[in-house]
Amino acid sequence: MRTPVIGGNWKMYKNPAETTSFFESFRPLVEYSGHCEIVICPSFLDLETAVTATRGTRIQIGAQNLYWAKEGAFTGEVSGPMIRASGCSHVIVGHSERRRYFGETNEGVLKKTVAALDVGLIPIVCVGECEKENAESVLMEQFRYAIGALSDGQFARIVIAYEPVWAIGAGETATPETAADTHRFIRTLVKDRFGAEAANNIRILYGGSIKPENAKSLIAQPEIDGFLVGGASLDPVSFASIVNLEL
Ligand code: 13P
Repeated sequence: MRTPVIGGNWKMYKNPAETTSFFESFRPLVEYSGHCEIVICPSFLDLETAVTATRGTRIQIGAQNLYWAKEGAFTGEVSGPMIRASGCSHVIVGHSERRRYFGETNEGVLKKTVAALDVGLIPIVCVGECEKENAESVLMEQFRYAIGALSDGQFARIVIAYEPVWAIGAGETATPETAADTHRFIRTLVKDRFGAEAANNIRILYGGSIKPENAKSLIAQPEIDGFLVGGASLDPVSFASIVNLEL
């Protein structure tokens, strides 16, 4: 049995005051949600506030990006050890918006994933195609270069998020069947590279316009091990209703 992960990616939304107020509402709503792991990824500026606001709860906090060097003259960057020291457990790596607007490559994603693992952060490594038509070839390439070079031990500690770029913020999601097919395809890539046990254990999350209304039919697919939610994670009631779907 794979424990589902329900992640919230806040992108470039919310300041510290808004973060505090979110958690005041959200905490009681997920008090009994022991069936899944909850990970919220606010901006760097909000991490400390979020960590403080969730201390003593089951809610975990992650960053949305990191740089692979431990420290140094890299103006504007934030390192894995800094994120770990701020109390985070997770970090999103290779989100399509990072790839698209900030030039991230598969090679960089691999370096960031390794840097995160080196300091004990759990990387949520994102993959996904821009156009529906070439999903398999894009996923194969991303998997091969951004994930395939990890060691077995490193791979065992990551989470994969499949986010078709055409579904992000678009109001359009993959149908549950298509999403499940793609997750199955990714699991086959995992099996070929890391073996059957790794393929059975890896959590593959789905992301792209997840809302309380469409989440139920997607999570009903055994291939889908949770979500990475953008817009709907900004509202405590919406996000809690996605978290609590299986209660
Ligand atoms: P939306 O849920 O807003 O489409 O964003 C998805 C996403 O990019 C999560 O990482």
